[in-house]
Amino acid sequence: MMFVNFRLIRKWQLVQLITTCLVLSVVMLWWERLDGTVVSHMKSYSYRYLLNNVNFNNSFTISREEARKFSDHQYLINHRHKCADRDVLLLLFVKSSPENIERRQAIRSTWGNETYIERTLGVTVKVLFALGLDPQPQQRKKLQQNLLRENQSHQDLIQQDFIDTFHNLTIKLLLQIGWTHTYCSHARFFMSADDDIFVHMPNLVRYLQKADRKGVQDFWIGRVHRGAPPIRRKDSKYYVSQEMYPWSLYPDYTPGAGYVVSRDVASKVYQASRTLNASLYIDDVFMGICASAMGISPKEHVFFSGEGKAPYHHCIYNQMMTSHGHVKDIYELWRNATDPEVRKVSSGFLGMLYCTLVKVKLLCKPYFFNTYPCKAAFL
Ligand SMILES: *[C@@H]1O[C@H](CO)[C@@H](O)[C@H](O)[C@H]1NC(C)=O
Ligand SMILES: *[C@@H]1O[C@H](CO)[C@@H](O)[C@H](O)[C@H]1NC(C)=O
Ligand SMILES: *[C@@H]1O[C@H](CO)[C@@H](O)[C@H](O)[C@H]1NC(C)=O
Ligand SMILES: *[C@@H]1O[C@H](CO)[C@@H](O)[C@H](O)[C@H]1NC(C)=O
Ligand SMILES: *[C@@H]1O[C@H](CO)[C@@H](O)[C@H](O)[C@H]1NC(C)=O
Ligand SMILES: *[C@@H]1O[C@H](CO)[C@@H](O)[C@H](O)[C@H]1NC(C)=O
Repeated sequence: MMFVNFRLIRKWQLVQLITTCLVLSVVMLWWERLDGTVVSHMKSYSYRYLLNNVNFNNSFTISREEARKFSDHQYLINHRHKCADRDVLLLLFVKSSPENIERRQAIRSTWGNETYIERTLGVTVKVLFALGLDPQPQQRKKLQQNLLRENQSHQDLIQQDFIDTFHNLTIKLLLQIGWTHTYCSHARFFMSADDDIFVHMPNLVRYLQKADRKGVQDFWIGRVHRGAPPIRRKDSKYYVSQEMYPWSLYPDYTPGAGYVVSRDVASKVYQASRTLNASLYIDDVFMGICASAMGISPKEHVFFSGEGKAPYHHCIYNQMMTSHGHVKDIYELWRNATDPEVRKVSSGFLGMLYCTLVKVKLLCKPYFFNTYPCKAAFL
């Protein structure tokens, strides 16, 4: 009898132990996700109060003459009439650099093919590449000749005479919004994107058409970074000094990999940029400061990806807007993602159920992988 009891207790304890382990491991597995969402939200809400009291109008405001120095660069290649069409739905600037000719070629043949978009989607989208000068003087001359040739055949390069480096990305942003203001202020939407991004143009166009019919204003979508702190580690690419940015959090912003704003926001950001100190070289944060100075904040669209690549699947293609880090696979992805089969997969009740399950499996991972959030599975 004693013996049996003892064994029962042992068994019960074993069950307890196993349950505890299971619960703990689930908690640990989910911790990173929790940390990424709950904790950062708490941080962000508590700091939001402080940040809302930062008036970027005063803190970064400089005179117009001083501000002009940041944007006062000569055009080396320009196309003043590129946007002359009356009805432009979207002006899309791709941030490229002189040597990335293959990336530009891939974009022109896939999601950035203006002719294809016009024919199949019935809207005008302009895709332009924003460039500076190659930093290496020895290479520059040759690359410049190549660019002029590329310009002759494609007429979609916009280049100014600043040095094209990571730390000059804010200058490249000023090029984009300055060009938009001067030559394309009638485009209904403006988008800025990296040259290693994939844009699901049919999905994006449908979405923007809907927004346009509603007559949206103060529209700014992308992935949203809320309450992100400046990186103070000197060895980081994103290092920002106290002097350059004294606060402990950035305003909400959308990472530069890809975001879209409406015409009125583009215009307001341009106005703000004319009196703000653009020495902060993180371009997307600078954009956030400009917008914040004008009282505009971004809205999250879950199908704009973070740093990571979206999983390959029809159920994902059906809703994706952007996905980051595509170079070699861009042709194949474009072919698959625009296949008419994609829309059939998720149609009907069973299709929707199937796609929800697939998306849960693909997106609701216990670790952080920075593509679309788990909640995207339920939309
Ligand atoms: C763009 O699309 C059009 C129409 O579908 C096609 O004829 C053309 O070859 C494409 N351009 C490129 C560079 O692939
Ligand atoms: C770029 O190409 C256009 C059209 O082919 C041409 O008119 C223009 O002069 C070129 N720009 C430069 C800087 O060569
Ligand atoms: C940015 O461009 C300007 C103008 O060409 C140049 O003087 C400066 O050195 C560049 N800055 C960086 C960090 O490359
Ligand atoms: C802009 O900010 C930088 C610090 O990031 C500062 O050194 C510079 O003097 C400021 N420019 C003006 C015109 O105030
Ligand atoms: C900042 O300045 C702009 C124009 O200079 C003004 O329209 C805007 O309302 C100001 N924003 C804040 C928050 O003071
Ligand atoms: C495209 O579709 C083919 C055939 O279904 C598949 O083998 C391939 O992995 C897909 N590639 C991508 C990028 O979706």
